[in-house]
Amino acid sequence: VDVVPVPDPALVVLVGASGSGKSTWASSRYRTAEIVSSDALRGVVGSGEHDLDASADAFALLEQVVAARLGRRLTVVVDTVGTDPARRRRWLAAAHEAGLPAVAVVLDTPAGVCRSRNAARDRPVPARVLDRQLATVAATVGLLDDEGWDSVLVATPDVPTHPGNTPSTG
Ligand code: CTP
Ligand code: MG
Repeated sequence: VDVVPVPDPALVVLVGASGSGKSTWASSRYRTAEIVSSDALRGVVGSGEHDLDASADAFALLEQVVAARLGRRLTVVVDTVGTDPARRRRWLAAAHEAGLPAVAVVLDTPAGVCRSRNAARDRPVPARVLDRQLATVAATVGLLDDEGWDSVLVATPDVPTHPGNTPSTG
């Protein structure tokens, strides 16, 4: 049980490297229809979840799903690596335009855990790609506080969610 409940409805943007547990975190808390995943959409419009050639089409669909759900004031959990600042800014603005709170959830899983989970997978991400994701996620954590999120939560493995910052007033 999380210490800090995430508001609902809300925009929930996950931030974490491959193997950090984003999809596991989301599916244990939300219905399938509430989660939009770039990997899943690659599988819908491409040859599979790992078809990187399908990324542009997958993200175009993802943007449509986010906009449509927020426009109806429905919860949407965005399951991507979460490290693109322009995308985060767009999603957050769309949530606030719809009057919904916007929450960033960082899967702050140790690099070694991500690496060993990745290595155990059928289709591991190349080690250099994972290293770059881990570095980008670490850099992203420092950016979130100034982006205007209603809250930034940090989910550590097997530890309840705790507040990553105190929401600023205004
Ligand atoms: N896992 C685990 N314990 C957790 C979370 C995840 O053992 N608390 C395992 C999952 O069963 C899975 C792997 O770690 O085999 C990766 O978890 P997943 O949620 O799929 O990670 P993602 O961050 O979604 O990875 P990706 O970006 O590659 O989708
Ligand atoms: Mg995933």
